[in-house]
Amino acid sequence: MTTTEATEVTATEPNAEGYKQFTLGGFTFRRDEFFAHITWPTGSHVLSVDNFLRALQRDVAWDFFYGTVNFDGVFGTVNHYGTVDMFAGRYNDAYRKAELDHVENFETPLIRETFKAMLDDWTNDGFDPFASPAETEKPFGVKHGSNTPAVTRHRVTAERMVGVPGDEPIRTDATHPINRMFADVSQDEPEIHAEPGFEGEVAAFSLYAYLSRSDVTWNPSVVSQCKASLYCPTTEEYILPVIHGNDRVEWFIQLSDEIRWEVEDRDTGKPRAKVVMKAGDVAAMPGDIRHQGYSPKRSMLLVWENASPEIPELIRTGKASVYPVEF
Ligand SMILES: [Fe+2]
Repeated sequence: MTTTEATEVTATEPNAEGYKQFTLGGFTFRRDEFFAHITWPTGSHVLSVDNFLRALQRDVAWDFFYGTVNFDGVFGTVNHYGTVDMFAGRYNDAYRKAELDHVENFETPLIRETFKAMLDDWTNDGFDPFASPAETEKPFGVKHGSNTPAVTRHRVTAERMVGVPGDEPIRTDATHPINRMFADVSQDEPEIHAEPGFEGEVAAFSLYAYLSRSDVTWNPSVVSQCKASLYCPTTEEYILPVIHGNDRVEWFIQLSDEIRWEVEDRDTGKPRAKVVMKAGDVAAMPGDIRHQGYSPKRSMLLVWENASPEIPELIRTGKASVYPVEF
């Protein structure tokens, strides 16, 4: 394992298809009309470029999220909150046994800037990596234009709560039209009757109305924050473009419709469970698994995160459990 400290993005001139090739440590990234090609000192890998860009978009927007972001069963990142591991085959039993796996650690700004540059260069006009596949054009072909506004869109991260003065605003027709799949969701907002003198300190909003106006999928947004407790609801359609590996317990509350979860061992990828969550169901994903969701119809999911920076260490040293409750 090596640590690289520069923040300069290393890229070539455009190739025959019009895309730059990027280098980060021992990894190289190249795209052609249909695929992303990754090489590292002991191997290489190919992913469909639509899945690669959808995963890359989330890794960039979430700033590497909690724990592991697997782009697929081979390639991904692990967040150490200040540095990031980039790996190939590290959490894949067969690659491990064949000793073809590879990990390098980078200062977060370097990998962030490299990923941002690659996402922007490789995303063509009309393709939105955050949108449902039913609501975007395709990413394929030789380079044609770009979609910088989509790949750099603002991610909602409320400091207290959506709707609180000075915090994230509620959504309106002018900024976020109601999604085609949530046309039946009530747009009524709660009435607020504050005691005189407290008008500026009481806030409320309809989370269902707010989510019905989400233009992105599989993108947990922070709508409220109380110390380390983060409510991160999201709307889902088709397949979660990453396989998320937890470094802490993560709670799910299915607010509408249905999601099927494939749950695997975080480190080996061995199947552990299939979870079908219907509206009203609550589940806690353990801290030692990875999971990928399938949503056949646009659905609303509340993800509840405990953002405390001490948790991964508490779990690693056995002071905290990977389960929230022992029955
Ligand atoms: Fe997750």
